[in-house]
Amino acid sequence: MEKKNLDWGKLTFTYQPTDYRYVANWEDGSWDDGELSTEPNVTMSESAGVLQYAQAVFEGLKAYTTKDGRIVTFRPDLNGERIERSAKRLVMPVFPKERFVEAVKQVVKANAAWVPPFGSGATLYLRPFEFGIGPVIGVAPAPSYQFRMFATPVGPYFPGGAVTPIRVKVSDYDRAAPVGTGDIKAGLNYAMSLRAIDEAHREGFNENFYLDSKTRTNLEETGGANIICIKGNKFITPKSNTILPSVTRRSLEVVAKDYLGLEVEERVVPFTELKEMDEIGVCGTAAVIAPVGEINDHGDVIKVPTGMEECGPVLKKLRDTLTGIQMCEIEAPEGWIVEIK
Ligand SMILES: Cc1ncc(COP(=O)(O)O)c(C=O)c1O
Repeated sequence: MEKKNLDWGKLTFTYQPTDYRYVANWEDGSWDDGELSTEPNVTMSESAGVLQYAQAVFEGLKAYTTKDGRIVTFRPDLNGERIERSAKRLVMPVFPKERFVEAVKQVVKANAAWVPPFGSGATLYLRPFEFGIGPVIGVAPAPSYQFRMFATPVGPYFPGGAVTPIRVKVSDYDRAAPVGTGDIKAGLNYAMSLRAIDEAHREGFNENFYLDSKTRTNLEETGGANIICIKGNKFITPKSNTILPSVTRRSLEVVAKDYLGLEVEERVVPFTELKEMDEIGVCGTAAVIAPVGEINDHGDVIKVPTGMEECGPVLKKLRDTLTGIQMCEIEAPEGWIVEIK
């Protein structure tokens, strides 16, 4: 199979349509068989549930080329489970996780020419999503739904990639209400974060650190990643039911404990504790691990000891081990790697 003629090393985190996407439709109580499609555009009613009341959930995962040329994906079952949970919260029909994993295999295989080569620093990002396509006018769940999954080759999420530390600010906006939708991956959570990230970017920050909206004292997450901290031999990450349960963070907890011998603590992390941390980072499928160099809390700057020049040693080891597992250079725990054949 001949690869597309792209400058893989120069890719950024932007959308580029590829040859095939998967499409399934739900109507009258059941999903159809689903199929690959070459049509990147969606036509729908002007009164579609997604357009009127933001009834949409999504996922993000990646396919990788291994050193020996195989194509693999990483824990797609967890994304399948998460979109099931997200859909239920917005009263949408569940696209079963077994079918989700099957769709991942079909989309990656059909777009094999778009999977960036090993060592290029790029990956094939998959964007599965489900939305209310049928018309509503009163506030109600849509009468019909579409599940789609497209693929797009991407480079690093943050400019400078994994090694350059980022500068973040503490947001004055809330990301998630105490009994809201912060723990699911719904577009509505991201719409309301756009103003916060736009302001942060204009002020020269890469991201926002959100605090819990009830007490404004505990660390939550960023707009698109969970937060991880290193303190001595401990891997510490905020426990909260208003953050997204990141696949990357849950995987890093296993890597930290079983591969690097760190002690893992998932617990409430007061914001005031950040100045005691040796290393701080954000993690997610898109960012993998990005080190944090500075945290600006309304002019008070916490300078992380590892500074603005390079990634700290423990986060680097975590990152190298995780990406080594993802690219099959390091043996993965059972079931983590799904090969596309
Ligand atoms: C709000 C938020 N938190 C965390 C994450 C990281 O989750 P994952 O590691 O599953 O990509 C994401 C990205 O998916 C996100 O959007």
